[in-house]
Amino acid sequence: LTKDRYPNVRRSDYSIIKSNHLEFFKDLLGEHRLITDENECLAYNTDWIKANRGYSSCVLKPKSTEEVCSILKFCYDNNLAVCPQGGNTGLVGGSVPVFDEVILSMSLMNKIISLDETAGILTCEAGCVLENLDNYLAERELMMPLDLGAKGSCQIGGNVATNAGGLRLLRYGNLQGNVLGLEAVTPNGRVVDCLSALKKDNTGLHLKHLYIGTEGSLGVVTKVCIKCPPKPKAVNLAFLGLNSFENILKVFKKSRHELGEILSSCEAIDADSLAVTTEHLKLKSPLDKFPFYMLIETHGSDNTHDEEKLNRFLGKVMEDGSVLDGIATNEPSKMKDIWDLRERITEGYLHDGYVFKYDLSLPLEHFYSLVPIMKDRVGRDAIRISGYGHIGDGNVHLSICVKEFSTEVLNKIEPFIYEYTSKLKGSISAEHGIGFRKTNYVHYSKSQEAIDIMTNIKCIMDPKGILNPYKVYPPSRRWSNFK
Ligand code: FAD
Ligand code: MLT
Ligand code: ZN
Repeated sequence: LTKDRYPNVRRSDYSIIKSNHLEFFKDLLGEHRLITDENECLAYNTDWIKANRGYSSCVLKPKSTEEVCSILKFCYDNNLAVCPQGGNTGLVGGSVPVFDEVILSMSLMNKIISLDETAGILTCEAGCVLENLDNYLAERELMMPLDLGAKGSCQIGGNVATNAGGLRLLRYGNLQGNVLGLEAVTPNGRVVDCLSALKKDNTGLHLKHLYIGTEGSLGVVTKVCIKCPPKPKAVNLAFLGLNSFENILKVFKKSRHELGEILSSCEAIDADSLAVTTEHLKLKSPLDKFPFYMLIETHGSDNTHDEEKLNRFLGKVMEDGSVLDGIATNEPSKMKDIWDLRERITEGYLHDGYVFKYDLSLPLEHFYSLVPIMKDRVGRDAIRISGYGHIGDGNVHLSICVKEFSTEVLNKIEPFIYEYTSKLKGSISAEHGIGFRKTNYVHYSKSQEAIDIMTNIKCIMDPKGILNPYKVYPPSRRWSNFK
């Protein structure tokens, strides 16, 4: 990881941070909320999978929307580029600087503002950690409408900025639907107050969508108002072993029909993906080895009803042979152990070496098709090629692990994977976003007209291009438009 790690990306002509800039930030935030020490900056410069690293020497930690406004106005006026950062768990290099962009860490904007317990509407600052919000809500019989393996670190602002999907999207929907309103700050420091708590509000354009899923490229999200469903009184989880992907599809279809309104999650894992948690992380699987596994979870309000329904469903899929073995439980500690097997796969892969990671939406019948195809193409160059993910959403996570990064292997994978996905009208980024790592591939999922509109919006909202530069938009359409 060196300064010239990205030979194909040139630093744009933003100002370089100088002592007069630092003086301004110190006056605004005090010395403890301005980080300049190289060692301290390192964690903010490096992404979660340690594949991307910038070299910013300035991390700012505002505590209020007003401070965010002052910072952005100053950066805009002084032509300083800014990288907004939440929990830094993003997987596409969007959360860390590419060069020396000022890092705007939202972690101290972590206050809950209000909760309407009757309507289930939470308003909070963007830096609240997802798990903390969920724990707060749990005490009031509510829950966050999203859950993901990174919950202990990721922030609601980061979730909104990435339109994060996660483990229960099939039941609770995406953030585009669940975020009722938000507050954001424009690149030149103005507050966009769309912090509406209304479920219905068709008064013109729904501007919140400019900020949901645009990865901090159009503004900094400072507050969020979100719908929170009731915490289910009954939760049941089944962990199943299967012998083929065809049977995964059969079981998913049956689960939709048989479990209906109580189905809350349906995840698929292949044997090689599970192995990274049992081998590297030493987690224990309650089942013997099978080629495939599924997690099927129910959320409901009556445990007797839900358990009976789940057991009836499990009886049927075992009887017809689509499931070979399985366990069902509603004991919290057992459910957590099973969920760990799924949620910690990302972490487990880090122990293999370098991982080429893909996050694709594909038509369900093709969900697993790339695993055998890539095994043929990459062969022995890979340590492990495997697939897992949100079968209920048609979103597969494909991992190709090698000892260390190799251009030769990369050329066997790309652009093939993207061409394949595009031909099937899939998405080259189902839930993680484009960030820094996928900007060259946007055209595989978006038409030229759509890309033109995207870049025009960026030009209008951030005419100097100071917010999260080098990210989200295709490089060929980027600089000429902004300067
Ligand atoms: P960061 O990583 O800090 O930032 C992500 C992007 O959002 C960056 O572009 C950043 O500039 C921008 N950003 C952050 N905060 C703000 C803000 N306040 N205003 C404007 N822009 C901002 N993702 C899924 O979708 N589903 C999953 O199931 C899932 N599971 C994961 C499991 C693990 C173990 C890990 C490590 C990651 C997982 N992710 C998943 C990816 C990641 O956790 C999500 O993208 C998450 O939403 C990022 O939140 P964050 O606060 O860490 O944001
Ligand atoms: C997941 O579903 O586990 C996440 O999206 C992270 C990953 O792709 O590994
Ligand atoms: Zn995922």
